[in-house]
Amino acid sequence: MTDGPRLAAPPALLALLEDPAVTDVLVNGAQSVWVDGSQGLRQVALELGDAHQVRLLATRLAVQGGGRLDDACPAADVHLPGGVRLHAVLPPVAPDGPLLSFRVLRREAFTLGQLVAAGTMPPACADLIEALISARANFLISGATGAGKTTLLAAVLGLVPPTERIVVIEEAAEISTPHPHCVRLEARTANTEGHGAFGLTALARQALRMRPDRIVVGECRGAEVRELLTALNTGHEGSCGTIHANSAADVPARLTALGSLAGLDRDTVAVQAAAALAAVVHVRRATGQAVRQIESVAAIGLEQGRLVAAPAVTVQPSGLVRGPAWDWLAARCGWS
Ligand SMILES: Nc1ncnc2c1ncn2[C@@H]1O[C@H](COP(=O)(O)OP(=O)(O)O)[C@@H](O)[C@H]1O
Ligand SMILES: [Mg+2]
Repeated sequence: MTDGPRLAAPPALLALLEDPAVTDVLVNGAQSVWVDGSQGLRQVALELGDAHQVRLLATRLAVQGGGRLDDACPAADVHLPGGVRLHAVLPPVAPDGPLLSFRVLRREAFTLGQLVAAGTMPPACADLIEALISARANFLISGATGAGKTTLLAAVLGLVPPTERIVVIEEAAEISTPHPHCVRLEARTANTEGHGAFGLTALARQALRMRPDRIVVGECRGAEVRELLTALNTGHEGSCGTIHANSAADVPARLTALGSLAGLDRDTVAVQAAAALAAVVHVRRATGQAVRQIESVAAIGLEQGRLVAAPAVTVQPSGLVRGPAWDWLAARCGWS
């Protein structure tokens, strides 16, 4: 946080927001402060005063971010200097005191080589991801919260040839990539009059008109999955994104659930997703450990009319072990 005006916040809070290992700072009224990041969610001792002082901090920051936060408008979502996004909500909507959720969007971009060096994947796995990019396969990166999906996606984008244009759409602009031609669109919530909302579905439609070579969805989390699947099935190959799922095998159910938000029934999602997506790369963070690892790569397809993510490769300490769906993936990507 070196550029521009300083955040109107106490030094101890600033120090947390400037810590490179911190992605989120969550202030729960006067009761507690939690941080999330490379070590996972943990409580920290940070004294911000009583509920009234926390409320003053929230309103001051909302104003600094060009928003409004008061009794008539008890929630705000603003961008603050230094790449910090703040969501704040006041009592009585938050009955136990003002709730402040800071998201630090400034983040270091890793190359895939750096992730290999950090133990996130063996070199053979990086080669496989590179092959997915070269084959212009559409794929998703799955994992739990904090598993390193966004970080991996940003690194993967660095492999895209510099002659191609990438359009990224995100709920909150998080992805920073070394790619020289990557443009970003960020969703916007409604203003105090309830106007001007511009969600991921709207962004997906805009992205299609921006001459993308590859469309990237930071995280598929809602009805925009319909636009994404449509785009991928109408010639936008080489796209990728992340999706929240506890295992690769859970991705079909997650896609079905997201599709239902967009009014798509199970069979429609199955047919569209199987046609659109080649693979899922699953990342995992071992409990209590900082290291993130790619666990497996699954091939997406239909089995007796049902959408499945079948194991194509499992990452073992000894290297990559091919699974039953390897041939399926290889054929689809033109490697066999
Ligand atoms: N491969 C990795 N090795 C070490 N730390 C990582 C790795 N990937 C992510 N992190 C750290 O973990 C935190 C969460 O990463 P992020 O990519 O935002 O996860 P997700 O998108 O799955 O929620 C960040 O602090 C990030 O710097
Ligand atoms: Mg993420």
